[in-house]
Amino acid sequence: MHHASPERDAWSSRIGFVLAAAGSAIGLGNIWRFPYVTGQNGGAAFVVLYIAFVLLIGTPVMVAEIAVGRHARLNPVGAFRKIAPKSLWYMVGFLGVATGIGILSYYSVIAGWTFGYFIKTVSGTFSSSITSDQSVIVFTNFVSNPIQAIFFLFVFIGLTTLVVMGGVSSGIERWVKILMPILFALLLILTIRSVTLNGAVKGLEFYLKPDFTKIHGSTVAMALGQALFSLSLGMGAMITYGSYISKQDNLVISAAWVCFFDTMIAIVAGFLIFPALFAMGLDPAGGPGLVFVVLPTMFADMPLGAFFGAGFFLLLTVAALTSTISLLEVTVAYMVDEKKWHRKSAALFMASLAFILGIPSALSFGGVDWLSKIPGIGLGFLDLMNISLGNYSLTIGAFLISVFVGYKWGIHAVRSEIEEYGNIFFFRKIWTFLIRFICPVAIFAIFVYIVVTKNYF
Ligand code: PHE
Repeated sequence: MHHASPERDAWSSRIGFVLAAAGSAIGLGNIWRFPYVTGQNGGAAFVVLYIAFVLLIGTPVMVAEIAVGRHARLNPVGAFRKIAPKSLWYMVGFLGVATGIGILSYYSVIAGWTFGYFIKTVSGTFSSSITSDQSVIVFTNFVSNPIQAIFFLFVFIGLTTLVVMGGVSSGIERWVKILMPILFALLLILTIRSVTLNGAVKGLEFYLKPDFTKIHGSTVAMALGQALFSLSLGMGAMITYGSYISKQDNLVISAAWVCFFDTMIAIVAGFLIFPALFAMGLDPAGGPGLVFVVLPTMFADMPLGAFFGAGFFLLLTVAALTSTISLLEVTVAYMVDEKKWHRKSAALFMASLAFILGIPSALSFGGVDWLSKIPGIGLGFLDLMNISLGNYSLTIGAFLISVFVGYKWGIHAVRSEIEEYGNIFFFRKIWTFLIRFICPVAIFAIFVYIVVTKNYF
């Protein structure tokens, strides 16, 4: 038997959970990944698919994950084991824990760049006006320096470890409450700057005028993966965070808020990046370096640019931190609940694994040639991790979770978990239909499609 230990940590309030879960969801996925994946996949038509997936698949899976977590009050492995003992469902939890370590490893590389760019901005690298070509050079030099890339990876994973060692309510909640609203305000200010640049209109068109002929092959799978990644779904992060939420809260409302905030931030990030990008005449399909090239060029030539630039990269570092905390927390909760490790040793151990696994990703932007373009695949190591784990592993996870909740654990169990304390299960019928039919069938169909067309990325 697994029990929740009596001293199991908890969020101090509903708003505490919403903020922490929003902190997990909002991060590089919104501001770094969303614009570059949108850029590579043709713009507005991709955005339409992304929003559809947030509504039809992301939100119902969010409700499902939080319900599983709150019911079991355990990490993902323990939660599946408790709800479905003597079955293989706990493997879904393992997939989640493994995916968590993998995502943490490469995500921290990008988060390290973000922190590095904060330092660069403060130290005046972008103080005089630079062209986008010069910005590309600064970026390339920065990310291809192996020592620097590994150093910033180390610093960032170290920060994450320190917070997770402190425990959920004291560590995570406090940060998110103050910093997320500031990040949002700053994003809005910068977006106003971006949309008023000369030549911004072309960017708005790319972002808002769907051209559905641009949807082919893997576009659909990428949009679904982006929706799941951005909402922190498919690997048990929301199961874990849900395990700390109070039984009194209406978890449907909490889930809806998290999905709403997260999607808003991604959409605003698009309004920030694309107008500026087109104003500079850059290629929207430029890949993972997109925001790191576009934004400094914009900061360099705006009033108080150094101030806004430093603020932006610092807050983005914090947003990334509240996401990596949740990634590490999943694996730590597993070690603490299932293996009875101390929180601190579990955090150190898992963080070290992620650091080692992150090294090849850190070296895959010019640091080491074959890692930058893996022979036979043509992608860099980080790109490969991002697609296989950030896209496909989460998609498989979301598929399995929807089948688990829709058929194994069952709709009635979810209903009593949600309604137990007199809460209303809003949209119950729609949710039931989505989780049992739309989620599994749509995900399955997408997999069949990409396998048949052999168009994986
Ligand atoms: N959702 C986070 C982001 O958008 C990344 C993440 C994915 C975090 C999966 C936890 C689990 O940045």
